[in-house]
Amino acid sequence: RHPGFGGLEVTMARIELKSAEELRWMREAGLVVVSIHEALRAAVAPGITTRELDEVSAAAIADSGATSNFLGYYDYPATVCISVNDVIVHGIPGDTELAAGDIVSFDCGAYVERRGRQWHGDAAFSVIVGEPFVSDEDFASGVRASGSLPGVDENVLRERRQLNALTRESLWSALAALATGKRISAVGSAVEEVVAHHGEINGWEAGIVEEFVGHGIGTSMHMPPDVLNYRVRGIQARLKPGMVLAVEPMLVRGDIASITDDDEWTVRTADGRDAAHWEHSIAITEDGVSVLTARDGGAAGLAPYGVTPVGLD
Ligand code: MF3
Ligand code: CO
Repeated sequence: RHPGFGGLEVTMARIELKSAEELRWMREAGLVVVSIHEALRAAVAPGITTRELDEVSAAAIADSGATSNFLGYYDYPATVCISVNDVIVHGIPGDTELAAGDIVSFDCGAYVERRGRQWHGDAAFSVIVGEPFVSDEDFASGVRASGSLPGVDENVLRERRQLNALTRESLWSALAALATGKRISAVGSAVEEVVAHHGEINGWEAGIVEEFVGHGIGTSMHMPPDVLNYRVRGIQARLKPGMVLAVEPMLVRGDIASITDDDEWTVRTADGRDAAHWEHSIAITEDGVSVLTARDGGAAGLAPYGVTPVGLD
């Protein structure tokens, strides 16, 4: 979402705290999002159009008996945002055919209705088209895509793989930081640290997009607080049991400046270089955190950080 510009009003805006029962409803919505992601991962392949993938997403949501929270959101025309290569976020599905080697993010959500209110889930992942998806478990134990892809420049491919893995790692590091940290600012610190460390190892510096940030989530998709992926001056809200946050780092290969297409949605890097995006919705509870949009509650992804999530199922 776009960060709020209200200064104090936004910073101090009330953060919705969920009861244990409400967290279980949010987990239901989270599991719907998991099943959309699984359907998209199974379908993505060279030659498929992004419109066909929106149909896959819509069918998965319908099968779950849930409702898309993207479709119709400020008139957004699809159930999923599919952002290819230089598109950072909010790519609209259409006639674009995916090609081997494309770096593509899929961002989607759904809500379930319980006792007359909506409970939302929102998550995103990126893939390189033509490659098998690396599970959270394999990713956590250091497995990375390798080998060549027919017709794809090996330098382009290497950097896309690094950018994708870096963004995924920055998300998990941020989620783990919420388990051990005291304030929302744990997210920005974690992402910056992972990005800085990677720069030293891989020899190029990734940019952290600032124009779009994570957000609170609950009875609507976008709620206070903003969840920044970078450090800022000033104190941020204290983490409290019952908070649910959508954490969504967006990293780029080049400069963070972005432009928006005439469709008023598609946001791309101004310099035309690649972007990646990963997102999970995470609950803060008395006993620990729970990643609502991961099938295993985040157990595999958080393990390298010594964090064991609490179960809500
Ligand atoms: N996950 C996206 C975000 O938080 C939601 C996109 S809204 C839609 O920015 F309208 F594009 F669907
Ligand atoms: Co979001």
